[in-house]
Amino acid sequence: MGKGSGYGKVILFGEHFVVYGLPGIASAVGLATDAVVTKSGALSVKDERKGTEGYSGSKREQQRESFERMFDMMGLKEKGVDIWLGGELPVMSGIGASAASSVAIARAVSDELKLGYDDAKINSVAYEMEKAFAGNPSGIDNTVATYGGLIWFKKNMAGGQNDMEKIRVPKPVEIVMGNSGVVADTKAMVAGVAERRKQQPEEYDAVFKKAEALAVKARAALEKGDYKTVGALMDENHSLLQQIKVSGEKLDELVAIAKQNGAFGAKVTGGGGGGCMVALTPGKELQERVASAMEAKGFQVLRTRIGV
Ligand code: MEV
Repeated sequence: MGKGSGYGKVILFGEHFVVYGLPGIASAVGLATDAVVTKSGALSVKDERKGTEGYSGSKREQQRESFERMFDMMGLKEKGVDIWLGGELPVMSGIGASAASSVAIARAVSDELKLGYDDAKINSVAYEMEKAFAGNPSGIDNTVATYGGLIWFKKNMAGGQNDMEKIRVPKPVEIVMGNSGVVADTKAMVAGVAERRKQQPEEYDAVFKKAEALAVKARAALEKGDYKTVGALMDENHSLLQQIKVSGEKLDELVAIAKQNGAFGAKVTGGGGGGCMVALTPGKELQERVASAMEAKGFQVLRTRIGV
């Protein structure tokens, strides 16, 4: 029996833009997906992860494809394994559930088949698996799922090693993730941005330049613990995500609830189109106020911290 885990994540800055080699900032959320893998005669999956209704079912085909990619990358002809998936990380779009499960499964397979993979190898297998879920992933989700922490990430567009640096904050800070309850298809969202960018290159170029500048400023503000500035930059980032059409009605509603209740900043997180948003809520009291305001409107929330 082999075991493995992968962290869930929250993207604070730069989702979508990271696909094109611009910087992104993301953090592990402290909750993980666990996998247990046992050699067997055929491939079977028992998915006991909890979260948004319909999530696991809607991802089944992409999950199958991710397994094929994993076995190919590992050079395994025998694909008979029983996979169990569970753990504390709720499955919902935007929280890195697919990357967390890819990392967990790759680790568990390596453990069961005694492949001896280190983190770098697990990360590259999980990146290959992510292609099934995101089409053209940047690699930010699997990197956080593998290594955890708060990171600065830049994809190497020439295919070499990506730039990944840990960011240190003076002390951990509270956030709230609000779930729109809408299951989103990251692959379709990434493809949609690519399509619109092709049709409106100048408009998109201008937005992309602003996104890059935001991430650079946000890193400096995070390192200083200047959360007023981080929050304001998150608001700006949300507006850019609206401009590239990856927000949605429920996500905008959640962002508005967060802001009305005092969040320093709030934005879509992850692929968008559904899934989650994130609000920066330093201090337990503010976190509770924002989270309960979302719950009062019937949304599922996650209270957590970044920079732990
Ligand atoms: C998804 O969590 C983040 C995206 O930027 C896709 C990716 O970076 O692979 C939308």
